[in-house]
Amino acid sequence: MKKFKRHLITSALPYANGPIHIGHLAGVYIPSDIYTRYLRLKGEDVISICGSDEHGVPITLKARQEGVSPQVIVDRYHELNKTSFERFGIAFDIYSRTTSKVHYDTASGFFKTLYDKGVFIEKTSEQFYDEEAGQFLADRYITGTCPHCGYEKAYGDQCERCGTSLSPTELINPRSTISGSQPVLRKTKHWYLPLDRYEPFLRKWILEDHKEWKTNVYGQCKSWLDQGLQPRAVSRDLDWGVPVPVEGAAGKVLYVWFDAPIGYISATRELTDDWEKYWKDPDTRLIHFIGKDNIVFHCIIFPTMLKTEGSYILPDNVPANEFLNLEGDKISTSRNWAVWLHEYLEDFPGKEDVLRYVLTANMPETKDNDFTWKDFQARNNNELVAILGNFVNRTVVLTNKYFEGAVPPLGDLSEEDRQVLEQMPVIRKRTEHSLDHFRFREALKEAMTLARIGNKYLADTEPWNLIRTDKEKVGSILNICLQITANLSLLMEPFLPFSMEKLRKFIRFEKADWNLIGTPDLLPAGHKIDKPTHLFEKITDDEIEKQINKLKSTKTENEKKEDKNLGPRKKQIGYDDFSKLDMRLATIVAAEKVPKTKKLLKLTLDTGLDRRTVVSGIAEFFTPEEIVGKQIAVLINLEPRKIKGITSQGMILMAEDPSGKLHFIIPEEKADNGSEIR
Ligand code: 2FM
Ligand code: ZN
Repeated sequence: MKKFKRHLITSALPYANGPIHIGHLAGVYIPSDIYTRYLRLKGEDVISICGSDEHGVPITLKARQEGVSPQVIVDRYHELNKTSFERFGIAFDIYSRTTSKVHYDTASGFFKTLYDKGVFIEKTSEQFYDEEAGQFLADRYITGTCPHCGYEKAYGDQCERCGTSLSPTELINPRSTISGSQPVLRKTKHWYLPLDRYEPFLRKWILEDHKEWKTNVYGQCKSWLDQGLQPRAVSRDLDWGVPVPVEGAAGKVLYVWFDAPIGYISATRELTDDWEKYWKDPDTRLIHFIGKDNIVFHCIIFPTMLKTEGSYILPDNVPANEFLNLEGDKISTSRNWAVWLHEYLEDFPGKEDVLRYVLTANMPETKDNDFTWKDFQARNNNELVAILGNFVNRTVVLTNKYFEGAVPPLGDLSEEDRQVLEQMPVIRKRTEHSLDHFRFREALKEAMTLARIGNKYLADTEPWNLIRTDKEKVGSILNICLQITANLSLLMEPFLPFSMEKLRKFIRFEKADWNLIGTPDLLPAGHKIDKPTHLFEKITDDEIEKQINKLKSTKTENEKKEDKNLGPRKKQIGYDDFSKLDMRLATIVAAEKVPKTKKLLKLTLDTGLDRRTVVSGIAEFFTPEEIVGKQIAVLINLEPRKIKGITSQGMILMAEDPSGKLHFIIPEEKADNGSEIR
């Protein structure tokens, strides 16, 4: 393998539309952090880059749902996620954001360079436009009936019931989620990256030169390439994003997947004036840590952008992970089905490493995997506490007890002692091999083997019994155990940084250097260690029960929501719009069925201002007899309409519950007819 001078590690920029959850951590951020820490510990030149992805439809959708501007959303989640990562010990050198000035300049500049080189194709096509809202609609802003399964709330890009990928024009009865109106097709011009032209280059670069990529990554690339690449639009009609920096592009922004990966470059520029060294020198090794849904963007589209720009290096590896499920169910931000990092940090203070450990041990590296709270408890109690913590604690306690906290000298070695000592460089090699191949579960398992060996060695040699007859031998045993402990504090550092720092403090071992692992006498005879504190604590059934109950209540809420048909939230309106409605209390003074209809009743109302007729579609729920005399709410300034030959002058206000049943809106106490409803 080529020896590189430096490493540039990027981790997928999470969308700033929600908090970080365990799926993000296991998929991207823990692997990238382990790898970064490993390289740093080896003394390599490495920088780790991340930040918030603050453009794109997920952000604008969330903003619309909450009735606030996208900036409010991204500010909120950028801060939350940046802080959570810091508290969780994810060692980014910078956590930037794609709304920064540097990013706007970098992304515009990048587009302009490609534009000036004539890389893009300009194409006019027809896209859905919402005439009421006056804007083009991103796929997620269009819903309609799925042509495959008949689901009425399919999105323009996918049906979430049957999973089929769709294009908006396939939807039956498409609707804009912004105004509810039927969108029309309108012509619009966009810039396309002609990926098809770079197919020969990509085939060679990936399929021939990068056979070492993980099977899931290589396989997905091969299948994209075998299907044949199409030109990809790199601009959108949207008002949130980096404006397209060319003439005649008013109202158009860069497609989020064009600007987001450039965010890695912008963040490096913010971090260091020396940024070009990391992006343009072929002696830099660029590695993108991502989840499997990002493969095409990092292996095909972004490399094509870099290649066509001409001055950048390409990624050397893209170790993508599969997905993590939670208690057997797909993690979902919108369904609140997740363990949120910021909540974990509140619920389990000081236990950052436990989650790091469990998520590494269950990392979805080659297939999707499942996180359960029971497994979390078991791994903590049976592995961290019972193996690693127990070994270290016994070693330090016994050294304090028998040798006043000073490392005893190593005497004559038995065969068993020799075998244990020989294991350390072997385990280092194996752990390195796994780490070098992005096999983090395996690496953790290897590293834990050393703690297991230590535990077994203590159990076999029983220094607590031997002390009565052979103190010198006990000295040798504890010397070996202390060497194992010091080795563990380095070997485990990339996985458990908080606990290993603590451990190094109480054995007073300052040298955080990977290259020392497996070398003799890390703690020389006579070296004084400190009193121990527990590295790990048992997690109780109660704590786990609490978390499981939290998830159970989410499940119940979700089921309730799914049962309900609460309809989409409507667009925010100003008070002016609301004040146009003239709503009053009125009493139904007469009611009769409208002949030859099932649903309609003709009502006579006393509105306080007048007596008038209103036709209302409530006959399936109420008989005329039961409603006469009721005081109800009515909209009186609705344009009169002829219904079945009767002029209806207004509309009764009804509440429709999720089952479709109608309810009158009735004042708690009777008031004067004509009272205004505001
Ligand atoms: O999938 C996602 O969450 C994207 N926000 C990842 C972007 S990675 C990069 F290109 F910035
Ligand atoms: Zn469907």
